[in-house]
Amino acid sequence: MNEHRIGIIMNGVTGRMGTNQHLVRSILAIREQGGVVCGDKRIIPDVVLTGRNETKLQSLAERHGVENYTTDLDAVLANEAYPVFFDASGTPYRVGFLERAIEAGKHIYCEKPTASDYGEALAIAEKAEQAGVKNGSVQDKLWLPGIQKFRSLRDQGFFGKILSVRGEFGYWVYPGHDPERPAQRPSWNYRKEDGGGIIIDMHCHWRYVIDNLFGKVTRIFSHAATHIPERVDENGEVYQCTADDSAYAILQTDAGVVCQFNSSWCVRVRRDELFTMQVDGTEGSATVGLRKCIVQSRADTPTPVWNPDVESPIDFFKDWEEVRPQEEFENAFKSQWELFLKHVVGEEPFPWTLREGAKGVQLAELSLQSSSEGRWIDVPREQLSQLSTQSS
Ligand SMILES: NC(=O)c1ccc[n+]([C@@H]2O[C@H](COP(=O)([O-])OP(=O)(O)OC[C@H]3O[C@@H](n4cnc5c(N)ncnc54)[C@H](O)[C@@H]3O)[C@@H](O)[C@H]2O)c1
Repeated sequence: MNEHRIGIIMNGVTGRMGTNQHLVRSILAIREQGGVVCGDKRIIPDVVLTGRNETKLQSLAERHGVENYTTDLDAVLANEAYPVFFDASGTPYRVGFLERAIEAGKHIYCEKPTASDYGEALAIAEKAEQAGVKNGSVQDKLWLPGIQKFRSLRDQGFFGKILSVRGEFGYWVYPGHDPERPAQRPSWNYRKEDGGGIIIDMHCHWRYVIDNLFGKVTRIFSHAATHIPERVDENGEVYQCTADDSAYAILQTDAGVVCQFNSSWCVRVRRDELFTMQVDGTEGSATVGLRKCIVQSRADTPTPVWNPDVESPIDFFKDWEEVRPQEEFENAFKSQWELFLKHVVGEEPFPWTLREGAKGVQLAELSLQSSSEGRWIDVPREQLSQLSTQSS
């Protein structure tokens, strides 16, 4: 088998997502397993880390045995040994980096959101298409074990007609006032001016999750809240929270499915996982998490009768069964990286483009509009069809 080495510029990967999910659990894991098989080739990634802070880059490179790093992005963009550019820097900087990389002729892969607003997200997708470079945006949730198990049962018709979905995402993020309990997320998440806000963060995900599993989103009603107005940052300084920390949304799809998604960094968890969604269909239901998928068929559905005066005669947790497939699932980010590398080297399809990523930014923008105007907002039809034609 021929070895095909491919140079990847990994930008802004000293942060949480860049280091853990993309560098360590995806690219370095792919190298460790001996690459990705693509036809008669074995694709082996060669990495250069780029960013602003040489000390951080050096320390990250040394910790993980990566040979190359630099703060001189222009130099690596001019280097033909690196045809792929990946970005996991902060959201406000994404478009600026992608523009430079596209102009240098690089293939593009990046974290979500692909831009801070929909206009910019569409423009960068168009720029990549016009330059003829391959492109993709991270839509990792599609490769989560829980969602893959659900999808396979859905395709077998287990749920019959799917009626509704209730997604709960979130956990308690410490505000940071107590030095014993510092915040466990970066402070920019709570400042709008730095790209923060749970809607721009999570509604990007809900868009592709719904579009891929339950029909295309046609309209949304959303309420955004900033429940905790003041938090303490990484330097112990108090700051005002200018971004939404919670969002309560109802969405409809062209398949007639009603979806509700609550997203919050101000809730305590009493559910199986940090994200769960209950899907109810005529023939069966599921609670789908990051890893688990637990189902109840129509035949196993109990017959409850409302009577608050007695202890429930039914144990409602009993007649559910956890789906246990034969296969082991890989890290979700790694699975998508492998498909992207095969797309770049071997022409395999990769429908999770920058244009698809733009739809997530669009939904976030419409959600904020719905919240500020207090009304349902339709997802513009002509833009939807234009997007799906161009991305097909
Ligand atoms: N797919 C997912 O599930 C998921 C989850 C969390 C975050 N994200 C996205 O990943 C991105 C990074 O989030 P994070 O949580 O890792 O944040 P983080 O604050 O931990 O990391 C941000 C990174 O960007 C770098 N950076 C910041 N400003 C920069 C600049 N001007 N130039 C170059 N680099 C700069 C930082 O040094 C750091 O490496 C965000 O866009 C976020 O929306 C995606």
